[in-house]
Amino acid sequence: MIQQRLKKAIGLSLMLNVFLAVGQTDLEVDINNKIAEIQPTMYGVFFEDINFAADGGLYAEMIKNRSFEFTVDPFLGWIQPNSDRHSFNNNSGIGSIVKYADNPGNTNFIRVKVNNDQGYQLINEGFRGMGIKEGESYNLYLSVAKHSGNVSKIKVQFIDENNAVLGETSVDITSSDWTDYTAQITANKTLAKAKLRFTFEGTGEIDLDMISLFPVDTWKGREKGLRKDLVQLLYDLDPGFLRFPGGCIVEGRTLARRYQWKKTVGPIENREVLVNRWNTEFSHRLTPDYYQSFGLGFFEYFQLSEDLGAEPLPILSCGMACQFNSGELVPMDELDPYVQDAIDLIEFANGSIDTPWGKLRNEMGHPEPFNLKYIGVGNEQWGPDYIDRYKVFEQAIKAKYPDMIIVSGSGPFPDGDYFEYGMEELKKLNAEIIDEHYYRSPEWFRENATRYDSYDRKGPKIFAGEYAAQSVAIASPENKNNWECAFSEAAFITGLERNAEVVNLTSYAPLMAHEEGWQWTPDMIWFNNLQSYGTANYQVQKLFSTNRGTDLISVTSAGKDLTGQNELYASAVTDSGTNEVIVKVVNTSNQSQEVAINLKGKKVYKKGELIVLKSEHLEDENSFENPNKIVPVTAEIQNRGGKLSVELQPYSVSVFKFKIR
Ligand code: AHR
Repeated sequence: MIQQRLKKAIGLSLMLNVFLAVGQTDLEVDINNKIAEIQPTMYGVFFEDINFAADGGLYAEMIKNRSFEFTVDPFLGWIQPNSDRHSFNNNSGIGSIVKYADNPGNTNFIRVKVNNDQGYQLINEGFRGMGIKEGESYNLYLSVAKHSGNVSKIKVQFIDENNAVLGETSVDITSSDWTDYTAQITANKTLAKAKLRFTFEGTGEIDLDMISLFPVDTWKGREKGLRKDLVQLLYDLDPGFLRFPGGCIVEGRTLARRYQWKKTVGPIENREVLVNRWNTEFSHRLTPDYYQSFGLGFFEYFQLSEDLGAEPLPILSCGMACQFNSGELVPMDELDPYVQDAIDLIEFANGSIDTPWGKLRNEMGHPEPFNLKYIGVGNEQWGPDYIDRYKVFEQAIKAKYPDMIIVSGSGPFPDGDYFEYGMEELKKLNAEIIDEHYYRSPEWFRENATRYDSYDRKGPKIFAGEYAAQSVAIASPENKNNWECAFSEAAFITGLERNAEVVNLTSYAPLMAHEEGWQWTPDMIWFNNLQSYGTANYQVQKLFSTNRGTDLISVTSAGKDLTGQNELYASAVTDSGTNEVIVKVVNTSNQSQEVAINLKGKKVYKKGELIVLKSEHLEDENSFENPNKIVPVTAEIQNRGGKLSVELQPYSVSVFKFKIR
């Protein structure tokens, strides 16, 4: 008993010391002092097919290299365990790649010669395996033509690493003309790394192409659709916009390998497969089997934006390949096709179904316009070459679509020559929205909560288009999605929010990464073939996004914004829809801190909500094993006449919400 009292006394005196050392921070929240509107686009998502985010990830296709188009090796992803290229394979058979005479979208198919149907097997390994779930069904699609002989049936089986069968189906082959077949397989076991095996009945030559396998249970149940758990994670963020398709992938390492949206729409079998620019970008994370099937193409991106209730924000090549790679330039007098791509994209998204591109949108199943309002010119370009090209795009887009809002970019860094030059030139051109990128240390994020305080309120609006705290160094494979990075971003975001008059759009980057197929870390969402989880950084984004409010109001301490005094940061908003006042306070110190909040200007209801996101250690992370280690906890809280005193936990993000009377 005595010991316990002693402990309590010591504990109390320690706490007292803490408070004595740090003191109490008084916060004045003026509910009536509306400073600016919070744009609905304030918190959005940046999607790029990096880290297997599209092929191998969001796009639920389970067959890798479904149409034998991978340029480095058309058999990549496929194995024929009983075949030998140096023999007649009389005891099995062998497949060869054949080229269609004239189809740039789909050049290859496989011709399988079955000599002995007991011996021959064709197996697809999936994207680091195929994730299958017990009791769930998978739709198989394939195009087949009998070439010679009497192959009459194709048997299709899920197998494990010991070749045990985990589900099967078969398809009867009837025609020597190209014919589309479908079938369904139900898995009898859950496995992250299943494979799909094809065997045949009869002998002869048979041609196969576009061999696809998708879960039946996709997002919104769409056939050949998107992975449900991954879209759900995006949906839960309530993003204000979806930026796509990147990122450097827009630019390509060379111009020939840039992202060309026109090649990503229409029938999927005609979409020309392209090597992914992240395939061999980093020698420490080579991914030679990374290609873009474009099954997730521009139509699907627009559709996803609509599903998420997010503004679509496509970014287009401006005729400059990635300046970190070749930096290849289109001569100014050959820029027209690039500009035309932008003009045609607007027609594809918004044009009437009587226009050529609107007609295609209609044929793809969306007669209504997608209401595109924003278009990005170039991704992360810098220097005079960019400004020269930007001017041409701006003139052409505005001439035809004066209301279209153009997003330009200030390059890859948040300061330095490229940045200053870009900002200065774009301001001279009255650019509407400038995209800034910062991949910096957690300290940088904490120190830059005031970054936008000095930005000209009448100047261009800012899109904080790519940012993430890097625990080691930019794109280091050792970077972690740890709690220090996440709460430092939260501190910084209070600064974005406090400057909502200038900052209109923000997004963390990159968005997604496959546990085994990644090139770049940190990333906001991690997944493997069966599971996915939001990182601590995701939880921070979600907390701000789902509490974004509609109007910025002031929150001050001793008459000043709270931007790091006592290692505390704050921002506040009201929400005209829910009639709430929402105050966010980030404590980046390792000590508890008392804050006294005074909500003035309007009366509020006594009871409210306190949502706290916290973790004990800087290096804490969510993981596949413990995806909910760092998640928000909600509790009831009360105020007295608008006043309340709260002890903020060390390393915590707190959101206070009260209904306004
Ligand atoms: O997010 C990863 C990459 O970082 C993006 O593709 C590029 O825009 C930036 O350099």
